[in-house]
Amino acid sequence: MKLVAEGKTKKVLFDEGARKYFLEFKDDITAFNMVKHEKMKGKGELNCGITAILFEVLKKNGIPMAYVKKIDEKTIEVRDVKMIPVEVVVRNRAYGSFLKRFNFKEGEEFKKPLVEFFFKDDEKNDPQLTRELFEFLDIANEIEIKKMKAYALKINEILKEIFKKIDIVLVDFKIEFGKNNDNNIILADEIDPDSCRLWGKNGEMYDKERYRKGLDGVMEHYNEILNRLKKSARLTI
Ligand code: TMP
Ligand code: ASP
Repeated sequence: MKLVAEGKTKKVLFDEGARKYFLEFKDDITAFNMVKHEKMKGKGELNCGITAILFEVLKKNGIPMAYVKKIDEKTIEVRDVKMIPVEVVVRNRAYGSFLKRFNFKEGEEFKKPLVEFFFKDDEKNDPQLTRELFEFLDIANEIEIKKMKAYALKINEILKEIFKKIDIVLVDFKIEFGKNNDNNIILADEIDPDSCRLWGKNGEMYDKERYRKGLDGVMEHYNEILNRLKKSARLTI
């Protein structure tokens, strides 16, 4: 296996014989663009398991995606994709960087979901993108932006439903898209507690915000999400 790329929490691998790509989930956890960074044993497996379950449901619901299938405890097979350097954030409630910019009550539910785009650049702290910047920086055209927004909203509806079934509120999440060989926009990357805000009924946090805030039990809470999703997936099959 050839290492194609390595990020903070994942590796992209290429099997030259089979000509297949794989995403391997690492045990690293980071926050505030590597200001905090450590390894948590088993994290790769938890995020891989959660991403695979969520992607399977999204696939069944017709979302075009790079995800092919889960290979082993920390690896998924993915299609060849050229990543678009954009973080697409969907928010159902006011939290995180939204609260730093706008005067809403913490946790307040929005009348409708908000979709925001940020340029992927750790050094510059992922600046927010406008339509003008998309065009100016030649990141994506109008049709592609509209497609990403429409997919993001559809994904939000599906994810909200999945999490509601396991008594979790989907506060917000981040997804990334890429282009396949036919130049079509497809969902890529991961969806797991690293990239979502997930609240229990009493407001308990089941996601990476625990690590950002220095709360204990990060892996226990990720594990709880995986176990509830597994149980729920068994019931619906
Ligand atoms: P934000 O409120 O900090 O902008 O985060 C919005 C969502 O995006 C939240 O669910 C956490 C997720 N996220 C990432 O996945 N990666 C990141 O680098 C950041 C800043 C947020
Ligand atoms: N994803 C960024 C990091 O890992 C920022 C964050 O999630 O807080 O450093």
